[in-house]
Amino acid sequence: MSLEACIFDLDGVLVDTARYHFLAWKRLAAQLNIKFTEEDNEHLKGVSRMDSLEIILNSANLKIDQKTKDEYADQKNRWYFEYINRMTPDEILPGSLDLINDLKKAGIKIALGSASRNTPLILERLGLENAFDAIADGNIVLKAKPDPEVFLTAARMMGVNPEDCIVFEDAIAGIRAAKTAGMMCIGIGSDQVLTEAHYIVTGLDKLDLKLLLKIFNIK
Ligand code: BG6
Ligand code: MG
Repeated sequence: MSLEACIFDLDGVLVDTARYHFLAWKRLAAQLNIKFTEEDNEHLKGVSRMDSLEIILNSANLKIDQKTKDEYADQKNRWYFEYINRMTPDEILPGSLDLINDLKKAGIKIALGSASRNTPLILERLGLENAFDAIADGNIVLKAKPDPEVFLTAARMMGVNPEDCIVFEDAIAGIRAAKTAGMMCIGIGSDQVLTEAHYIVTGLDKLDLKLLLKIFNIK
């Protein structure tokens, strides 16, 4: 491969909104008397809002109609909104801005690839709304991760080949999506959980361009 572009997932990679998603889903689960742990939450990471709700309802064998499901999803999003609407640029995770700037200086394109429909609001709160060459998010992508659509859309928007992209992901579903798209993938998080990634680090602060080139043996 030659490194043409890097695609960043948002929630749990650039910012710790994965925590806010967890807290909001936990609140909904409690209201429905469903047990919901951090471990259960791993399976929701990267997954769309409605698919996440389905996973929670299925875990308790709860069958409800679509209208009620829509209401639950809206309620969860209202709670989630209370967290993200208060965010500031201080919440950008360590190493993110350094890596983005490092890549830009080297002429490597950068994109955002997220399932979230709240992406525009979060980027605005973080002051990152103009930081990316392309943004593929839950507002334009139809098929949720692990489907590769979000990453293939980002590559197409940047005019680069999928095999020349590296994806940064904190979710099992996202790593699968990246690999199905034919891209290289760095897992951001626990090496116990993200075993399918090509390489795993605890955060973007552990990476720089030189290391990326070394990991994937790019000349
Ligand atoms: C992903 C998160 O980035 O976005 C998931 O990892 C979330 O947890 C999904 O469900 C959809 O987000 P939103 O903001 O549209 O509800
Ligand atoms: Mg994520």
